[in-house]
Amino acid sequence: MPESRSLQGIWSSPWIFIFAASGSAVGLGNIWRFPYLLGENGGGAFLFVYCACLLLVGLPILMAEVALGRTVRSNPIDTVNDLSERRLIHSAWVLVPWLAGVTGFLILTFYSVIAGWSMAYVERAVSGQFVRISESGAQSMYDALLSSPGEMLLWHTLFMLLVVVVVGQSVTRGLAALVRILLPVLIVVLLMLAGFALYKGNAWEAVQFLFRWSWQDITLKVVTAAIGQALFSLSVGMGAMFAYGAYMSKRMSIASACSTVALIDLAVSLLAGLIIFPLAFAFHINVQSGPSLTFVSLPIIFGSLPAGREVGGFFFLLLTITALTSAISMLELFVAWLHEKYYIARMKAALLLGFLVWLVGIAVLLSFNHWDSKLLYHLNFFEILDKLTSQILLPLGAMLLSVLVAWFLPRSVLQNEMVAKKSMCFQWWYCTLKYVSIPVLVLVTFAGWIGV
Ligand code: PFF
Repeated sequence: MPESRSLQGIWSSPWIFIFAASGSAVGLGNIWRFPYLLGENGGGAFLFVYCACLLLVGLPILMAEVALGRTVRSNPIDTVNDLSERRLIHSAWVLVPWLAGVTGFLILTFYSVIAGWSMAYVERAVSGQFVRISESGAQSMYDALLSSPGEMLLWHTLFMLLVVVVVGQSVTRGLAALVRILLPVLIVVLLMLAGFALYKGNAWEAVQFLFRWSWQDITLKVVTAAIGQALFSLSVGMGAMFAYGAYMSKRMSIASACSTVALIDLAVSLLAGLIIFPLAFAFHINVQSGPSLTFVSLPIIFGSLPAGREVGGFFFLLLTITALTSAISMLELFVAWLHEKYYIARMKAALLLGFLVWLVGIAVLLSFNHWDSKLLYHLNFFEILDKLTSQILLPLGAMLLSVLVAWFLPRSVLQNEMVAKKSMCFQWWYCTLKYVSIPVLVLVTFAGWIGV
């Protein structure tokens, strides 16, 4: 029989929640995806809109997801079923957690392939391939990896095996303990690398690019990309944070715990930008080069560091582990549901789902080489999955979840959850969610559909 969420399963320290949730939030989205979106979308304008989206959309929805999880202490699918049985909502709402699970599943198919690149770079760093590497050498190394599907398949398989083993064993608590050590180490390493990059690279041009913007630069494309990234980076809109909320103690303030997670997440993304852009400008790397940006820039910095082999290997290992702590939260929803509802052993459920993700992941990795043909709107399979999830499914899932919380759950229940003493904070959250986040997401989902 699956264990129910007994009181022992509830985390007494707010730090366990903060570390578990940060483990899900901080990952490839911060170090790989954020810099290249920033590069593609004009730098400062994107950063400004991104920060606004974090505050006005990402954070309120993160709080809503966590609050809902804590109210019901179950998995999202059973929660919605339960609410509809109690006639609080219509039974059609059950589509929302399904949508969330499918979104997480689809994201994992390409997330695993990119995490595989990070693993491949651990091997390249420790075997000395970064030493005094030039810009063209770093580009050729990246191109060589992308043109060898066999090697990508190996790393993708290894990464998915790790995900399945960890999810199958249900070690969220243990992972929070791991993240507790990992996160400060990652931040210290990023700070050191940022210092080095700003000193060695073109700091002035990078800072201008990151922080200067004008109103004309803010286009619909920038806004949709920024919202998609805010949701992706905070892991909201697909039930991942819901699960962590279910383990959160009632005594904790959701507002302060979630704000801390959002701040940590933003800090890691900013540091990644402060490492990559000074280098990119100094070495004339095209900042609009897309997904290759991080994987071409970083070897150059490690190649010119005194202990570059060790530092580079360690950094990409850290990146792989942060990707792992994010990836497990994408599978968790369906695994928990199969386990709690149908009593399927967690390992079996994780194996089954992991196998399906692995299969679709093969099509993703082939879209970087043999199947690089444009299938739709000049996009290949990877690009379609990336755009479909971040610009349509995530905003749609986040919007429906917010509507569910803001318009259907009794206000008194939410007020209780949000620690009613701070009523100003509750008002801010409730009004922002209802009158800002939801309308913005409706517009973005609509814009996504019409193919921005
Ligand atoms: N937030 C993760 C990152 O930035 O790498 C990605 C992610 C994790 C997305 C978990 C979705 C999710 F459910």
